[in-house]
Amino acid sequence: MNTKNRYILVTGGAGYIGSHTVLALINNGYTPIIIDDFRNAHKDVIFRLEELTAQEIIYFSVACQDEFRLKGVFEQFHIEGVIHFAADKAVGESTQKPLKYFDNNFGSLISVLELVQQYKVENFVFSSSCTVYGDPKTIPVVEKSPVSYNSPYGFTKKVNEEMIAQFVESAPFVQATILRYFNPIGAHESGKIGEEPDGKPNNLLPFITQTAFGIREELTVFGDDYDTKDGTCIRDYIHVEDLAEAHVAALSKANEAKQNPEIYNIGTGKGTSVLEMIQVFEKVTGQQLPYSIGERRSGDIPEIYANADKANKILNWKAQKSIEEAVKSAWKFENFIREKRKSK
Ligand code: WQD
Repeated sequence: MNTKNRYILVTGGAGYIGSHTVLALINNGYTPIIIDDFRNAHKDVIFRLEELTAQEIIYFSVACQDEFRLKGVFEQFHIEGVIHFAADKAVGESTQKPLKYFDNNFGSLISVLELVQQYKVENFVFSSSCTVYGDPKTIPVVEKSPVSYNSPYGFTKKVNEEMIAQFVESAPFVQATILRYFNPIGAHESGKIGEEPDGKPNNLLPFITQTAFGIREELTVFGDDYDTKDGTCIRDYIHVEDLAEAHVAALSKANEAKQNPEIYNIGTGKGTSVLEMIQVFEKVTGQQLPYSIGERRSGDIPEIYANADKANKILNWKAQKSIEEAVKSAWKFENFIREKRKSK
Protein backbone atom coordinates (compact mmCIF):
# COMPACT_ATOMS: atom_id res chain seq x y z
CA MET A 1 0.00 0.00 0.00
CA ASN A 2 1.31 3.41 -0.96
CA THR A 3 1.10 5.84 1.99
CA LYS A 4 3.46 8.53 0.74
CA ASN A 5 0.83 10.64 -0.96
CA ARG A 6 -2.16 12.40 0.56
CA TYR A 7 -4.84 10.50 -1.33
CA ILE A 8 -8.30 12.00 -1.61
CA LEU A 9 -10.99 9.89 -3.23
CA VAL A 10 -13.18 12.04 -5.43
CA THR A 11 -16.37 10.28 -6.49
CA GLY A 12 -17.85 11.89 -9.58
CA GLY A 13 -14.42 13.40 -10.14
CA ALA A 14 -14.80 13.59 -13.91
CA GLY A 15 -17.95 15.67 -13.63
CA TYR A 16 -18.33 19.43 -13.73
CA ILE A 17 -17.59 20.38 -10.13
CA GLY A 18 -15.56 17.23 -9.48
CA SER A 19 -13.03 17.92 -12.24
CA HIS A 20 -12.40 21.47 -11.02
CA THR A 21 -11.97 20.14 -7.50
CA VAL A 22 -9.43 17.60 -8.77
CA LEU A 23 -7.37 20.50 -10.16
CA ALA A 24 -7.67 22.45 -6.90
CA LEU A 25 -6.59 19.39 -4.91
CA ILE A 26 -3.50 18.89 -7.06
CA ASN A 27 -2.62 22.58 -6.72
CA ASN A 28 -2.79 22.14 -2.97
CA GLY A 29 -0.52 19.12 -2.77
CA TYR A 30 -3.10 16.34 -2.60
CA THR A 31 -3.29 13.31 -4.87
CA PRO A 32 -6.87 12.87 -6.04
CA ILE A 33 -8.21 9.49 -7.04
CA ILE A 34 -11.19 9.80 -9.34
CA ILE A 35 -14.07 7.35 -9.16
CA ASP A 36 -16.53 7.86 -11.97
CA ASP A 37 -18.76 5.59 -14.02
CA PHE A 38 -18.86 8.21 -16.80
CA ARG A 39 -22.64 8.05 -17.04
CA ASN A 40 -22.68 11.82 -17.06
CA ALA A 41 -19.08 12.71 -17.82
CA HIS A 42 -16.63 12.29 -20.67
CA LYS A 43 -13.49 10.13 -20.46
CA ASP A 44 -11.78 12.85 -22.35
CA VAL A 45 -11.91 14.99 -19.20
CA ILE A 46 -9.26 12.74 -17.66
CA PHE A 47 -6.87 13.37 -20.54
CA ARG A 48 -7.51 17.10 -20.37
CA LEU A 49 -6.81 17.06 -16.63
CA GLU A 50 -3.56 15.25 -17.37
CA GLU A 51 -2.65 17.82 -19.99
CA LEU A 52 -3.38 20.70 -17.63
CA THR A 53 -1.47 19.26 -14.68
CA ALA A 54 1.28 17.52 -16.67
CA GLN A 55 0.83 14.48 -14.49
CA GLU A 56 -0.92 11.17 -14.55
CA ILE A 57 -4.41 11.21 -13.07
CA ILE A 58 -5.43 8.15 -11.10
CA TYR A 59 -8.95 7.14 -12.01
CA PHE A 60 -11.23 4.13 -11.83
CA SER A 61 -14.21 3.62 -14.06
CA VAL A 62 -16.42 2.33 -11.28
CA ALA A 63 -19.96 3.09 -10.11
CA CYS A 64 -20.08 4.02 -6.44
CA GLN A 65 -22.77 1.46 -5.85
CA ASP A 66 -20.34 -1.24 -6.88
CA GLU A 67 -19.04 -1.57 -3.34
CA PHE A 68 -16.89 -4.58 -4.15
CA ARG A 69 -14.84 -2.76 -6.78
CA LEU A 70 -14.79 0.42 -4.73
CA LYS A 71 -13.36 -1.54 -1.83
CA GLY A 72 -10.51 -2.59 -4.10
CA VAL A 73 -9.51 1.07 -4.39
CA PHE A 74 -9.49 1.49 -0.59
CA GLU A 75 -7.33 -1.63 -0.37
CA GLN A 76 -4.84 -0.24 -2.85
CA PHE A 77 -4.45 3.29 -1.44
CA HIS A 78 -4.44 4.82 1.98
CA ILE A 79 -7.36 7.22 1.56
CA GLU A 80 -7.14 10.25 3.81
CA GLY A 81 -10.38 11.87 2.71
CA VAL A 82 -13.40 11.33 0.51
CA ILE A 83 -15.22 14.02 -1.42
CA HIS A 84 -18.52 12.58 -2.57
CA PHE A 85 -19.93 14.25 -5.68
CA ALA A 86 -21.29 11.24 -7.54
CA ALA A 87 -25.03 11.68 -7.92
CA ASP A 88 -27.74 12.32 -10.46
CA LYS A 89 -28.56 16.01 -10.42
CA ALA A 90 -31.23 17.06 -12.90
CA VAL A 91 -34.20 18.43 -11.00
CA GLY A 92 -36.63 18.03 -13.94
CA GLU A 93 -35.56 14.46 -14.73
CA SER A 94 -35.93 13.53 -11.06
CA THR A 95 -39.64 14.31 -11.21
CA GLN A 96 -39.98 11.87 -14.16
CA LYS A 97 -37.67 9.18 -12.81
CA PRO A 98 -37.66 9.45 -9.01
CA LEU A 99 -36.54 5.85 -8.52
CA LYS A 100 -33.39 6.44 -10.58
CA TYR A 101 -32.55 9.28 -8.17
CA PHE A 102 -33.36 7.27 -5.05
CA ASP A 103 -31.35 4.32 -6.32
CA ASN A 104 -28.22 6.24 -7.26
CA ASN A 105 -28.18 9.07 -4.74
CA PHE A 106 -29.00 6.91 -1.72
CA GLY A 107 -27.19 3.78 -2.92
CA SER A 108 -23.94 5.56 -3.76
CA LEU A 109 -23.81 7.38 -0.44
CA ILE A 110 -24.45 4.17 1.48
CA SER A 111 -21.64 2.24 -0.18
CA VAL A 112 -19.20 5.16 0.13
CA LEU A 113 -20.02 5.58 3.85
CA GLU A 114 -19.70 1.84 4.35
CA LEU A 115 -16.09 2.07 3.14
CA VAL A 116 -15.44 5.28 5.12
CA GLN A 117 -16.45 3.19 8.12
CA GLN A 118 -14.41 0.11 7.24
CA TYR A 119 -11.26 2.04 6.43
CA LYS A 120 -11.68 4.68 9.15
CA VAL A 121 -11.38 7.56 6.69
CA GLU A 122 -10.82 10.78 8.63
CA ASN A 123 -12.42 13.32 6.37
CA PHE A 124 -15.67 13.19 4.43
CA VAL A 125 -16.98 16.08 2.35
CA PHE A 126 -20.45 15.91 0.85
CA SER A 127 -21.76 17.80 -2.12
CA SER A 128 -25.14 19.21 -1.17
CA SER A 129 -27.20 21.98 -2.63
CA CYS A 130 -29.15 25.12 -1.82
CA THR A 131 -32.06 23.12 -3.18
CA VAL A 132 -32.49 21.87 0.42
CA TYR A 133 -33.85 25.33 1.36
CA GLY A 134 -36.83 24.84 -0.96
CA ASP A 135 -38.59 28.19 -1.39
CA PRO A 136 -37.12 30.13 1.55
CA LYS A 137 -39.24 32.60 3.48
CA THR A 138 -36.24 34.72 4.46
CA ILE A 139 -33.21 35.54 2.33
CA PRO A 140 -30.28 35.40 2.40
CA VAL A 141 -30.47 31.86 3.74
CA VAL A 142 -28.26 30.77 6.62
CA GLU A 143 -27.32 27.18 7.41
CA LYS A 144 -29.98 27.09 10.11
CA SER A 145 -32.76 28.18 7.73
CA PRO A 146 -35.53 25.59 7.47
CA VAL A 147 -34.91 22.80 4.98
CA SER A 148 -37.45 21.21 2.69
CA TYR A 149 -37.61 19.95 -0.87
CA ASN A 150 -39.65 20.41 -3.99
CA SER A 151 -38.34 17.63 -6.20
CA PRO A 152 -37.21 14.02 -5.77
CA TYR A 153 -33.67 15.30 -6.40
CA GLY A 154 -34.00 17.83 -3.57
CA PHE A 155 -35.46 15.10 -1.40
CA THR A 156 -32.37 12.91 -1.98
CA LYS A 157 -30.03 15.75 -0.96
CA LYS A 158 -32.03 16.48 2.18
CA VAL A 159 -32.15 12.82 3.18
CA ASN A 160 -28.46 12.36 2.27
CA GLU A 161 -27.61 15.13 4.72
CA GLU A 162 -29.63 13.40 7.43
CA MET A 163 -28.01 10.04 6.63
CA ILE A 164 -24.58 11.59 7.09
CA ALA A 165 -25.61 13.17 10.39
CA GLN A 166 -26.83 9.85 11.74
CA PHE A 167 -23.82 8.01 10.38
CA VAL A 168 -21.26 10.27 12.06
CA GLU A 169 -22.92 9.77 15.42
CA SER A 170 -21.74 6.19 15.14
CA ALA A 171 -18.38 7.06 13.58
CA PRO A 172 -16.59 9.69 15.70
CA PHE A 173 -13.30 9.15 13.83
CA VAL A 174 -14.64 10.96 10.77
CA GLN A 175 -14.97 14.69 10.24
CA ALA A 176 -17.94 15.21 7.99
CA THR A 177 -18.55 18.45 6.13
CA ILE A 178 -21.63 19.25 4.09
CA LEU A 179 -21.25 21.95 1.48
CA ARG A 180 -24.46 23.48 0.19
CA TYR A 181 -23.62 24.90 -3.20
CA PHE A 182 -25.54 27.72 -4.75
CA ASN A 183 -25.53 27.97 -8.58
CA PRO A 184 -22.13 26.96 -9.95
CA ILE A 185 -21.16 28.55 -13.25
CA GLY A 186 -18.07 29.11 -15.35
CA ALA A 187 -15.10 27.02 -16.32
CA HIS A 188 -11.42 26.55 -15.62
CA GLU A 189 -9.38 29.55 -16.70
CA SER A 190 -7.68 27.41 -19.36
CA GLY A 191 -11.09 27.00 -21.01
CA LYS A 192 -10.47 23.25 -21.25
CA ILE A 193 -12.58 22.00 -18.38
CA GLY A 194 -16.17 23.11 -17.90
CA GLU A 195 -19.80 22.14 -17.90
CA GLU A 196 -20.67 19.73 -20.71
CA PRO A 197 -24.38 18.97 -20.56
CA ASP A 198 -25.60 16.20 -22.81
CA GLY A 199 -28.34 17.46 -25.11
CA LYS A 200 -30.41 20.49 -24.24
CA PRO A 201 -29.05 22.22 -21.15
CA ASN A 202 -31.35 22.80 -18.17
CA ASN A 203 -29.13 25.40 -16.56
CA LEU A 204 -29.04 29.02 -17.52
CA LEU A 205 -25.43 29.73 -18.48
CA PRO A 206 -24.85 26.64 -20.68
CA PHE A 207 -28.10 27.52 -22.44
CA ILE A 208 -26.86 31.07 -22.98
CA THR A 209 -23.47 30.00 -24.35
CA GLN A 210 -25.02 27.39 -26.63
CA THR A 211 -27.51 29.95 -27.92
CA ALA A 212 -24.78 32.48 -28.60
CA PHE A 213 -22.87 29.77 -30.40
CA GLY A 214 -25.87 29.14 -32.65
CA ILE A 215 -26.72 25.68 -31.33
CA ARG A 216 -30.00 26.91 -29.81
CA GLU A 217 -32.24 29.41 -31.54
CA GLU A 218 -32.95 31.60 -28.55
CA LEU A 219 -33.02 31.63 -24.80
CA THR A 220 -36.40 31.60 -23.16
CA VAL A 221 -36.39 33.63 -19.96
CA PHE A 222 -38.69 31.67 -17.69
CA GLY A 223 -41.01 34.40 -16.46
CA ASP A 224 -40.55 38.14 -15.88
CA ASP A 225 -43.49 38.65 -13.56
CA TYR A 226 -41.86 37.58 -10.29
CA ASP A 227 -41.78 39.94 -7.35
CA THR A 228 -38.06 40.72 -7.84
CA LYS A 229 -36.07 43.77 -8.94
CA ASP A 230 -36.66 43.20 -12.67
CA GLY A 231 -39.32 40.49 -12.53
CA THR A 232 -36.95 37.60 -13.32
CA CYS A 233 -35.62 35.04 -10.84
CA ILE A 234 -32.63 35.77 -8.67
CA ARG A 235 -29.86 33.27 -7.94
CA ASP A 236 -26.45 33.25 -6.30
CA TYR A 237 -24.08 32.29 -9.15
CA ILE A 238 -20.71 31.11 -7.94
CA HIS A 239 -17.61 30.52 -10.05
CA VAL A 240 -16.87 26.80 -10.14
CA GLU A 241 -13.19 27.46 -9.37
CA ASP A 242 -14.18 29.22 -6.14
CA LEU A 243 -16.47 26.33 -5.35
CA ALA A 244 -13.64 23.87 -5.95
CA GLU A 245 -11.45 25.77 -3.47
CA ALA A 246 -14.14 25.41 -0.81
CA HIS A 247 -13.55 21.64 -0.85
CA VAL A 248 -9.86 22.09 -0.20
CA ALA A 249 -10.71 24.46 2.65
CA ALA A 250 -13.16 21.91 4.04
CA LEU A 251 -10.52 19.18 3.99
CA SER A 252 -7.98 21.26 5.85
CA LYS A 253 -10.37 22.45 8.54
CA ALA A 254 -11.02 20.10 11.41
CA ASN A 255 -14.52 20.23 12.84
CA GLU A 256 -14.89 21.24 16.42
CA ALA A 257 -17.68 18.80 17.14
CA LYS A 258 -16.86 15.57 15.41
CA GLN A 259 -20.20 13.98 16.11
CA ASN A 260 -22.06 16.47 13.97
CA PRO A 261 -21.41 17.22 10.34
CA GLU A 262 -20.53 20.86 9.81
CA ILE A 263 -22.75 22.51 7.19
CA TYR A 264 -21.65 25.47 5.09
CA ASN A 265 -23.33 27.61 2.48
CA ILE A 266 -21.00 28.00 -0.47
CA GLY A 267 -22.15 31.03 -2.38
CA THR A 268 -21.15 34.61 -3.05
CA GLY A 269 -23.89 36.29 -1.03
CA LYS A 270 -24.98 38.24 -4.10
CA GLY A 271 -28.17 37.77 -6.05
CA THR A 272 -28.22 38.13 -9.85
CA SER A 273 -31.33 38.10 -12.01
CA VAL A 274 -31.72 36.25 -15.31
CA LEU A 275 -31.81 39.56 -17.22
CA GLU A 276 -28.67 40.74 -15.43
CA MET A 277 -26.95 37.52 -16.42
CA ILE A 278 -27.85 38.13 -20.06
CA GLN A 279 -26.47 41.67 -19.81
CA VAL A 280 -23.22 40.41 -18.31
CA PHE A 281 -22.91 37.85 -21.09
CA GLU A 282 -23.45 40.47 -23.78
CA LYS A 283 -21.01 42.86 -22.13
CA VAL A 284 -18.12 40.46 -21.65
CA THR A 285 -18.41 38.61 -24.95
CA GLY A 286 -19.62 41.39 -27.23
CA GLN A 287 -22.23 38.93 -28.54
CA GLN A 288 -25.89 39.76 -28.80
CA LEU A 289 -28.03 37.09 -27.24
CA PRO A 290 -31.36 36.28 -28.87
CA TYR A 291 -33.94 35.79 -26.14
CA SER A 292 -37.63 36.09 -25.43
CA ILE A 293 -39.74 36.10 -22.32
CA GLY A 294 -41.69 32.91 -21.76
CA GLU A 295 -43.81 31.24 -19.12
CA ARG A 296 -42.56 30.57 -15.63
CA ARG A 297 -40.83 27.19 -15.29
CA SER A 298 -42.63 24.93 -12.88
CA GLY A 299 -40.75 24.44 -9.61
CA ASP A 300 -38.67 27.63 -9.91
CA ILE A 301 -38.43 29.75 -6.81
CA PRO A 302 -38.34 33.54 -7.21
CA GLU A 303 -35.25 34.34 -5.23
CA ILE A 304 -32.43 32.75 -3.26
CA TYR A 305 -28.92 33.73 -2.30
CA ALA A 306 -26.55 32.73 0.42
CA ASN A 307 -25.34 34.12 3.63
CA ALA A 308 -21.86 32.58 3.43
CA ASP A 309 -20.47 34.16 6.62
CA LYS A 310 -19.92 30.79 8.28
CA ALA A 311 -17.70 29.52 5.46
CA ASN A 312 -15.92 32.90 5.33
CA LYS A 313 -15.12 32.76 9.03
CA ILE A 314 -14.62 29.11 9.85
CA LEU A 315 -13.31 27.70 6.58
CA ASN A 316 -11.47 30.92 5.86
CA TRP A 317 -12.94 30.65 2.38
CA LYS A 318 -14.52 33.38 0.33
CA ALA A 319 -15.65 33.53 -3.28
CA GLN A 320 -13.03 35.57 -5.12
CA LYS A 321 -14.12 35.62 -8.72
CA SER A 322 -16.70 37.82 -10.39
CA ILE A 323 -19.67 36.79 -12.49
CA GLU A 324 -17.92 38.51 -15.42
CA GLU A 325 -14.91 36.19 -15.04
CA ALA A 326 -17.20 33.18 -14.76
CA VAL A 327 -19.16 34.11 -17.88
CA LYS A 328 -16.00 34.80 -19.83
CA SER A 329 -14.54 31.42 -18.90
CA ALA A 330 -17.80 29.63 -19.78
CA TRP A 331 -17.73 31.27 -23.21
CA LYS A 332 -14.10 30.28 -23.70
CA PHE A 333 -14.99 26.71 -22.78
CA GLU A 334 -18.00 26.63 -25.12
CA ASN A 335 -15.72 27.64 -27.98
CA PHE A 336 -13.11 25.07 -27.00
CA ILE A 337 -15.55 22.19 -26.74
CA ARG A 338 -17.30 22.98 -30.03
CA GLU A 339 -13.96 23.11 -31.83
CA LYS A 340 -12.99 19.83 -30.22
CA ARG A 341 -16.22 18.07 -31.16
CA LYS A 342 -15.97 19.38 -34.71
CA SER A 343 -12.51 17.92 -35.13
CA LYS A 344 -13.59 14.45 -33.92
C1 WQD B 1 -31.34 29.59 -13.06
C2 WQD B 1 -32.35 30.66 -13.45
C3 WQD B 1 -34.39 29.80 -14.36
C4 WQD B 1 -32.75 28.21 -18.05
C5 WQD B 1 -30.60 24.28 -10.34
C6 WQD B 1 -31.08 23.27 -9.35
C7 WQD B 1 -30.43 23.48 -8.03
C8 WQD B 1 -28.92 23.52 -8.16
C9 WQD B 1 -28.51 24.50 -9.19
C10 WQD B 1 -27.96 21.33 -7.95
C11 WQD B 1 -33.77 30.28 -13.05
C12 WQD B 1 -33.65 30.64 -15.37
C13 WQD B 1 -32.86 28.83 -16.83
C14 WQD B 1 -33.39 28.80 -19.19
C15 WQD B 1 -34.15 30.60 -17.79
N1 WQD B 1 -28.35 22.31 -8.61
N2 WQD B 1 -33.55 30.00 -16.68
N3 WQD B 1 -34.05 29.98 -19.00
O1 WQD B 1 -32.97 26.10 -11.21
O2 WQD B 1 -31.67 27.84 -9.93
O3 WQD B 1 -30.96 25.56 -9.87
O4 WQD B 1 -29.20 24.22 -10.43
O5 WQD B 1 -28.09 21.05 -6.84
O6 WQD B 1 -30.80 22.46 -7.20
O7 WQD B 1 -32.48 23.43 -9.19
O8 WQD B 1 -30.64 26.79 -11.95
O9 WQD B 1 -29.55 27.31 -14.07
O10 WQD B 1 -31.67 25.93 -14.10
O11 WQD B 1 -31.80 28.35 -13.53
O12 WQD B 1 -34.77 31.66 -17.68
O13 WQD B 1 -33.35 28.28 -20.30
O14 WQD B 1 -32.36 30.78 -14.87
O15 WQD B 1 -35.76 30.02 -14.43
O16 WQD B 1 -34.39 31.46 -12.65
P1 WQD B 1 -31.70 26.61 -10.73
P2 WQD B 1 -30.88 27.03 -13.48
